[in-house]
Amino acid sequence: MELSDRVVLVTGGANGIGRAICRRIAQELPQGIVIADRELTGARAVAAEIGGIAVECDVSCEADLQAVVQRTIDEFGRIDVAISNAGVTAKGGFETPDSDWDRLWRVNVLAHVYLARAVVPVMVAQGDGAFVVTASAAGLLTEIGSAAYSVTKHGAVAFAEWLSVHYRNQGLKVACLCPAGVATDFLDLEDPIHQFLHVSSVTPEHVAECVVDTLRQESFLVLPHAEVGEFFQFKSQNYDRWLHNFAHLNTRLQRQTERARAKAVAVEIPGEPGSPAT
Ligand SMILES: NC(=O)c1ccc[n+]([C@@H]2O[C@H](COP(=O)([O-])OP(=O)(O)OC[C@H]3O[C@@H](n4cnc5c(N)ncnc54)[C@H](O)[C@@H]3O)[C@@H](O)[C@H]2O)c1
Repeated sequence: MELSDRVVLVTGGANGIGRAICRRIAQELPQGIVIADRELTGARAVAAEIGGIAVECDVSCEADLQAVVQRTIDEFGRIDVAISNAGVTAKGGFETPDSDWDRLWRVNVLAHVYLARAVVPVMVAQGDGAFVVTASAAGLLTEIGSAAYSVTKHGAVAFAEWLSVHYRNQGLKVACLCPAGVATDFLDLEDPIHQFLHVSSVTPEHVAECVVDTLRQESFLVLPHAEVGEFFQFKSQNYDRWLHNFAHLNTRLQRQTERARAKAVAVEIPGEPGSPAT
């Protein structure tokens, strides 16, 4: 799909990957770009820069997404490309509180379902449209530092696959973006696991270029890191070996985390009033 003269909606477009996608698509001279984000100030700044429309929207709320889609259709009479990109994370394993599991489920999975409910019937009626799900490499592999992120991003990949299988013969192109580390505010550089991701991170501009290329080729997986494709292939060829390798990496990163914690405590103790070291 070419993007000139198209009407495009991007969620989570105020920052990071979403903002880079908005900027890159603007170069293709679309008819309109709607930037939906819970951060209205950031969305307005992007809209002012690229001549788009900013709308405040919490993607975990179906009514908000319906309102954004309606606003887009009222303004332009159609919607050609929906990029369901907003996403959140929470660190931790199965001890992660239910409130966080619920938040990630709503933003990382249900938001794609809500947006699809609102736009897919419109695209099917138009006979043409594209839906991009921003998942993550965590949805094809795993994110060692977050059980809830890994599970919900697998859910996002699964939903994108389902959407593609059900609607590709009705003119809908579905793409699923699965990057590993991307240099945005999303990465917490205090966290050794995110530090590890940062080492091989790519820029959001590179990710945006890959999204535009994939839309042009009308293929499914958007892989800004070639190694993610290789690991994914390896996982399907030798699941046990893949688990073994990731377990090894997990042990290494956990040791690093423990060492970083111990160092932080050692720095804190001497200055702590009443501590044995003072
Ligand atoms: N940065 C990475 O390393 C990385 C890697 C893989 C996948 N991803 C995914 O890429 C997407 C974008 O991440 P990013 O790195 O640009 O992060 P970011 O934090 O820089 O930007 C995320 C944007 O989403 C918005 N947002 C969050 N929750 C929202 C909600 N409920 N409603 C509306 N807007 C909301 C934020 O306000 C922000 O503008 C996410 O889905 C993330 O999971 C990021």
